[in-house]
Amino acid sequence: MRDRLKKIREEAISNIEVLNNLDGWESLRIKYMGKKGELTLVLREMGNISKEERPIIGALANEIRQQIEGELDKAKDRLIEEIKKQQIEKEKIDITISKHTKKLGHYHPLLHTIKELENLFISMGFSVVDGPEVETVQYNFDALNSPENHPSRDLSDTFYITKDILLRTHTSPVQIRAMKQIKPPLRIVSAGRTFRFDDVDDTHSPMFHQLEGLVIDEKVTMANLMHTIDIFIKKLFGEDMETRFRPHHFPFTEPSAEVDVSCFECKGKGCSVCNGTGWSMELLGCGMVHPKVLENCGIDSERYSGFAFGMGIDRITMVKYGINDIRLLFENDNRFLEQF
Ligand code: PHE
Repeated sequence: MRDRLKKIREEAISNIEVLNNLDGWESLRIKYMGKKGELTLVLREMGNISKEERPIIGALANEIRQQIEGELDKAKDRLIEEIKKQQIEKEKIDITISKHTKKLGHYHPLLHTIKELENLFISMGFSVVDGPEVETVQYNFDALNSPENHPSRDLSDTFYITKDILLRTHTSPVQIRAMKQIKPPLRIVSAGRTFRFDDVDDTHSPMFHQLEGLVIDEKVTMANLMHTIDIFIKKLFGEDMETRFRPHHFPFTEPSAEVDVSCFECKGKGCSVCNGTGWSMELLGCGMVHPKVLENCGIDSERYSGFAFGMGIDRITMVKYGINDIRLLFENDNRFLEQF
């Protein structure tokens, strides 16, 4: 009997060792611990052995029973742990995998400048108006007092659609539209695309952008113009920026001026960028609205006067952001655009 008991123990322990699921565990439990289990069957035969042997065999059977029970308990813990591990492995979510992020759009650098300029002028009491890119020769040239033989009217400078219709060569026709629509006093700015027959290089493009400004009221003087320009340049580029007005000629303003601004690189000290002059040249054109232009729009030039200015937004954007090639603004290359 002793041998049979020991054999049961050996067999049980090695069976339990290789268990790999809970069903198997349950069958082994029944096999060894159950009412009809192997141990019970052996113990039923206790009657056949001698009185002296009975307590010894009984003690051995108990010991073996406890051992098998202990092994079964350990195996159950191990199996439950393994099942948990498998489940965790199965349900694992890899949070390091990159998800598809939606990219937020943002303004193009040109639009940044336009918005900034518009907001600046709005804070100074101006309204923002819009004008068409396809214009009449009448508004683009005639009403602006441009002489019949002015070189800018030339076919080689202007995109004509018909004899009387063209792609506007500047934003100044918006002045005419504003003066015809709004009674003075008026203060407007208007930004948009303009077109000239230019070959493309790092500073030229046949399509570019301007911002136009116009103020009409009683007693408006050149001093108001110079002060307005000075304030907006300081607000846009910094308080330490100076402006310089050089006499110039535009058919629609008299007197006219071109404005230079302190060099953005050296702030006026003189460096290689400004050829030692300390000035960034020709940042905008301006002047007092020509009386003929006022009259063309039905405004009494004896009572009213005004000033106008126009600037290239592409050039301003380029100096503001340190962009060295105008083509970058129009190529829509994300590697460039993402920097703004
Ligand atoms: N329209 C002019 C240009 O394109 C600029 C300008 C606007 C000049 C308003 C004077 C007044 O160069």
